[in-house]
Amino acid sequence: MPLQIIVGAQWGDEGKGRIVDWFAAQADIVARYNGGDNAGHSVTVGSQLFKLHLVPSGIIHSRPIAVLGNGMVINPEALLNEIDMLANLGVDVSPRRLRVSHAAHLITPAHRALDAALEAQRGKGSIGTTGRGIGPAYTDKAARTNLRVGDMLSADFGEKLAAHIEAANRTLTALQAPVLEVQPILSRFAEYVSRIAPYIADTSAETCAVLAQGGSVLAEGAQGTLLDLDHGTYPFVTSSATTAGGVFTGLGIGVTAARDAVVSGVCKSFQTRVGSGPFPTEVFDDLALRLRGTGANPWDEYGTTTGRPRRVGWLDGVLLRYAVRINGLTELVITKLDILSGLETLKLCVAYRKNGQIYQDLPFGPTELDGYEPVYEEFPGWSEDVRDIRRWRDLPSAACDYLQAISQLTGLPIRLVSVGPEREQIVEH
Ligand code: IMP
Repeated sequence: MPLQIIVGAQWGDEGKGRIVDWFAAQADIVARYNGGDNAGHSVTVGSQLFKLHLVPSGIIHSRPIAVLGNGMVINPEALLNEIDMLANLGVDVSPRRLRVSHAAHLITPAHRALDAALEAQRGKGSIGTTGRGIGPAYTDKAARTNLRVGDMLSADFGEKLAAHIEAANRTLTALQAPVLEVQPILSRFAEYVSRIAPYIADTSAETCAVLAQGGSVLAEGAQGTLLDLDHGTYPFVTSSATTAGGVFTGLGIGVTAARDAVVSGVCKSFQTRVGSGPFPTEVFDDLALRLRGTGANPWDEYGTTTGRPRRVGWLDGVLLRYAVRINGLTELVITKLDILSGLETLKLCVAYRKNGQIYQDLPFGPTELDGYEPVYEEFPGWSEDVRDIRRWRDLPSAACDYLQAISQLTGLPIRLVSVGPEREQIVEH
């Protein structure tokens, strides 16, 4: 298949990184098409945990070329730190293997300062952003005032950067936030330019050429469907197109590539969310602690980027069906099934109730969730430890029943189920 899209079907953190890693060995290109270093994709190989924020997780395999597409916002400092980290771990991150779109937008220290100042100003209504400058960078992109990666190659980049910081300082002053010193930023960026220049490419042309030659492209979504700027729980969303549609603009490939595409929706066996915003199936107290974990393990529910504890709850089948529609999912991948082992009863939200009326779907999508209460179907749990299981038929029958219910609710086959954080802890269906 020429194009496979891996997209988060919830509020991010579904475990996309390790699923990309599962498929990437066969891909010619693995490409990120949205977001920036707000993402946190973890892959465990043996005793090595790779935590990636910008570079596509597929780079860990030797075959694919990793692309940072034009739909991304890139903090050069974070990118260089990640390149150094990967190189230290023995991964080939030479410009032959890593390509950065000239049309991707830059995140500067001004964007990070603005992110913090704007969140402080929102007070109780804060979005709970990752603080990585994502929103302000996309704001400048939409305002047509931002710097792009390709600008780093132009002779007047320093002047443009200085003007950008000065403009941000005027806004920071209005927000009563500390302003930034221009000169140290210019010096740091001068170093970034020389290191990043060899990676800059027309990644749209290169990706289209691979597709034209019958090669395969694996598009790695960041965040999740419900954080999409257009289709998520607005305004508690990120500022990019996280959904499958974003692949075409975010990589610069034509929609005809979608013809035979596989669109894999990655979904936890329960639901999590970081940051503010509605979460109808959220649970609290002991059950929340049970699902979240204490933080002692790297796979517990604490943000890879920010370390914040994630909110947790039962799987929301109404929102999952919405993700199927918005992305045109062709299959599901269910992660973290092992976490449910030992729970006596599982709940799956199959509809909502409001003013005595039952809704299978939300009238205005997930933007309007006020007053909607989940309607749950209950399933018996299982006590068996599933972490060593590799074949579907060896899964406890109660686990199969639960997975079957998810499949029926969404009308999609479940292709993979993860039963632990290790690369091999996957059950194929
Ligand atoms: P921003 O992307 O930093 O602007 O944050 C906007 C919202 O998206 C906040 O609620 C964040 O917690 C959430 N968010 C951003 N990136 C991720 C992610 O990779 N996983 C989960 N939530 C995220």
